[in-house]
Amino acid sequence: MRIGILSAGGDCPGINAAIRGVGKTAIIEYGMEVVGIANGFSGLINLETIPLQEHLLSGILTLGGTILGTSRMKPFRKQEGDPVENKPEAIKMNYEKLGLDALVCIGGNGTQKTAHLLSLEGLNVIGIPKTIDNDVWGTDTTFGFDSAVNIATDAIDRLHSTANSHKRVMVIEVMGHTAGWIALYAGMASGGDIILIPEIEYDMDRVAEVLLERSHKGKAYSIVVVAEGIENPKKKSAGSHIAKQITKMTNLEVRETILGYTQRGGSPSPHDRILATQYGAHAAELIYNRKFGNMVSLQGNDITHIPLSEVGGKVKLVPSNHELIQRGRYMGVSFGEKR
Ligand code: F6P
Repeated sequence: MRIGILSAGGDCPGINAAIRGVGKTAIIEYGMEVVGIANGFSGLINLETIPLQEHLLSGILTLGGTILGTSRMKPFRKQEGDPVENKPEAIKMNYEKLGLDALVCIGGNGTQKTAHLLSLEGLNVIGIPKTIDNDVWGTDTTFGFDSAVNIATDAIDRLHSTANSHKRVMVIEVMGHTAGWIALYAGMASGGDIILIPEIEYDMDRVAEVLLERSHKGKAYSIVVVAEGIENPKKKSAGSHIAKQITKMTNLEVRETILGYTQRGGSPSPHDRILATQYGAHAAELIYNRKFGNMVSLQGNDITHIPLSEVGGKVKLVPSNHELIQRGRYMGVSFGEKR
């Protein structure tokens, strides 16, 4: 068998570990041939390939980013001035031209949706979920998330001491354009006092009140962790918006930090290396057993799979009754909601 692998959407730590997991299992265990597709789906349209023989898969486990490159190109979305008239048709043609028996698509929600549509077009597709946002439906966790939480937690830990020295309110914006998983986990892991996530409506008066209460109780400083996707009338940075509002509504000194792309860069955590390796190996097993049209997934302790038709680009939000939220509340963490 000959299989293609591509990575699409925003990058994250662990993609190379997944490529290695698929590739080594496919080549060593199943005697398959593996070819890399460059820059996501655009590489399949423009026939840009990258060799992936066994020796080229060594030494990439710990590397951040993706050796294949990535793009946010959506083949089923028509764009003004598209050089290729029918992108799905071009993909089908090139899949044949490359002599592929299966295609592995490593990506987030958008990629899994495209993977499903391509399988409806008759391609043998397997999805591997990845994103720092952890918002892919159908799997307990995506790789990239643990690494991003580690990076964000480390950054917030560092902000505690400077906040304490200056008696300041520190507002930290983390990634998560739709779901608040990073804010919730990094916020709780680093002892955040207020955590704002898109899934819970916040009340600015309450946020200011909590900060003033803390100050009156003699707490020298406060840490406010903000997911970038919270309701924000200014549309620019959610963290800046919240910091400005706090300054306006209290007499406290406020500073903001936007973590941005640092959360997506660098080497994957050991947890993500293992998860990505397992996802990759399972993808190769699924191909060998011709179980196409599935996305690999973690359910409890099991590495398993779920039909792409059930995933279809759905977003996995933080449930507002998540146990970490409940327990945080018991310990005095505010999620900014009205009392
Ligand atoms: O990969 C998901 C994500 O990290 C989001 O949280 C963020 O909004 C987005 O990527 C931004 O990525 P880009 O600028 O690459 O589109």
